[in-house]
Amino acid sequence: MYSEKVFEHFQNPRNVGKIEDADGIGTVGNPVCGDLMTIYIKVKDDVIEDIKFQTFGCAAAIATSSMATELAKGKRLDEAIKITRDVVAEALGGLPKQKMHCSNLAADALKRAIVDYLRKNGRFDKIRELGLEKELEKMEKGEEDDHGEFCEA
Ligand code: FES
Repeated sequence: MYSEKVFEHFQNPRNVGKIEDADGIGTVGNPVCGDLMTIYIKVKDDVIEDIKFQTFGCAAAIATSSMATELAKGKRLDEAIKITRDVVAEALGGLPKQKMHCSNLAADALKRAIVDYLRKNGRFDKIRELGLEKELEKMEKGEEDDHGEFCEA
């Protein structure tokens, strides 16, 4: 069962929408269930000043996006990349095991938005420093992350 917090974030998600002049955009999809998520960030002095998301997905995908954006807002980039699916799930009071993959979408879309911001600004040294080279490679190849193996939708 879902925790009360998951219900609350699903029914009243924070930071929904699009930032038209975003500094970084990250999109991740799940080819099996078709869930798709995009995160938009505004960055100043390496701090995430604003963040919004659009999610076409299940209740857990929406609740985890909402929580991930709340956790990331106001954080430095090096802190924001530490927001893993487990951090998001824990902040929501836990997720059913078969729904853990949904929180990957939020964590990965956030990571990609950060990489996008850094590559647009030619900061490949920072991408290396944060250990995000693999993510950059996948993005340049246009690869989607495949969370399908766990997806029961
Ligand atoms: Fe939620 Fe697949 S991402 S059901």
